[in-house]
Amino acid sequence: MIELARFHGYRELHVARASMQYVWDSSGRRYLDLHTGHGAAFLGHNNPRIVERVYSQWNSIGVCTPQFKCGIQDEATRLLGKVLPPGDWMVAFQNSGAEAVELALKAAWVHTGRTRIVAFKGGFHGRTLGALSVTWNPRYRRRVPVIGYVDFLPFNDVSSLDSIGEEHAAVIVEPVQGEGGVVPAEPGFLRELRRATSEAGALLIVDEVQAGFGRTGHIWAHQASGIEADIIVAGKSIGGGFPVSMVAARPPILEDLAGLHGSTHGGNPLALAAVVGGIEVLLENDVPAQAGVKGARLLNMLEELEDLPLVRSVRGMGLMGGIEVRRMPGEVLRCLQDKGVIAIRAGINVVRLLPPYMVTEDDLGGAVEALKGCVGA
Ligand SMILES: Cc1ncc(COP(=O)(O)O)c(C=O)c1O
Repeated sequence: MIELARFHGYRELHVARASMQYVWDSSGRRYLDLHTGHGAAFLGHNNPRIVERVYSQWNSIGVCTPQFKCGIQDEATRLLGKVLPPGDWMVAFQNSGAEAVELALKAAWVHTGRTRIVAFKGGFHGRTLGALSVTWNPRYRRRVPVIGYVDFLPFNDVSSLDSIGEEHAAVIVEPVQGEGGVVPAEPGFLRELRRATSEAGALLIVDEVQAGFGRTGHIWAHQASGIEADIIVAGKSIGGGFPVSMVAARPPILEDLAGLHGSTHGGNPLALAAVVGGIEVLLENDVPAQAGVKGARLLNMLEELEDLPLVRSVRGMGLMGGIEVRRMPGEVLRCLQDKGVIAIRAGINVVRLLPPYMVTEDDLGGAVEALKGCVGA
């Protein structure tokens, strides 16, 4: 018998069809999807613009590594110039968020010649060895010999930043801790972090894999605090659901990896076509502005839940919401699913909502009503 490994457990739902913010089960029942495949479908399931881009790319050329030139590379870099923060960047594409984190760490090690990394308590950066080593949750790290060169500092605690020093190659931070419980970084904390990192001569890696690409009301969540990153890591939504991730670094950081890095599928034309389609959708629909307005509305609605006995607190930034509950979050997720809403857990006791940008006010209202039913008693 061949069985599929389901590392996250099985949610008892056979998804038969998906379109934009909805999925349908095999009996034809519709669900509002606020899980969106761990946030990958922020631009909607099967967004037609992105599907069309990938199909037509595959009809011309589906394999072309960066050792060769092909037209889609120029299109992708030209469009990235419209969404990356101002100034020069060198970009490299990978296939998953964790792989892009690995590449960012490797670039920082090679570029600075230093070894240690600063990461934050509550932070999440992926499950491969390097990415896991900078991920805080001991539950994910147990029984794995993670690398030991990592210093974890308390998140949002300016007083601890003085410990960043000349032994550190890089600091890696999420602008909103997603998996850790939907905890936004305070703007003042990020600004002090930028200062302390520069003073130590280390590189600031901002992990935008979950919060980036419009979700928080800004194209990149760290832009809300006015800081600049040395390296931006992106993934999940940038390809509209196609598996692709990206490292953008200030020159010459990535140049130091010449001859030292490679990836068979990294930057393949289909992934680049998906990114081109993703950027077109982002810009043409003013996705960050939509996410900002709808996210503020969502947070307002969630605040109505704060008086309920099973709710500890609510928080969020843009279309990234968290409800800290006094009940096993798995039970709340099951209850929501029964009511036609799919959400996702974060941290130990947080129900996380990751709505796609085209979610409507009615959708959000319905989800909050469902939540009331699940945490109201
Ligand atoms: C902030 C952050 N970084 C990295 C990752 C890892 O991405 P992937 O699962 O695509 O490897 C995730 C995934 O949830 C994430 O949220």
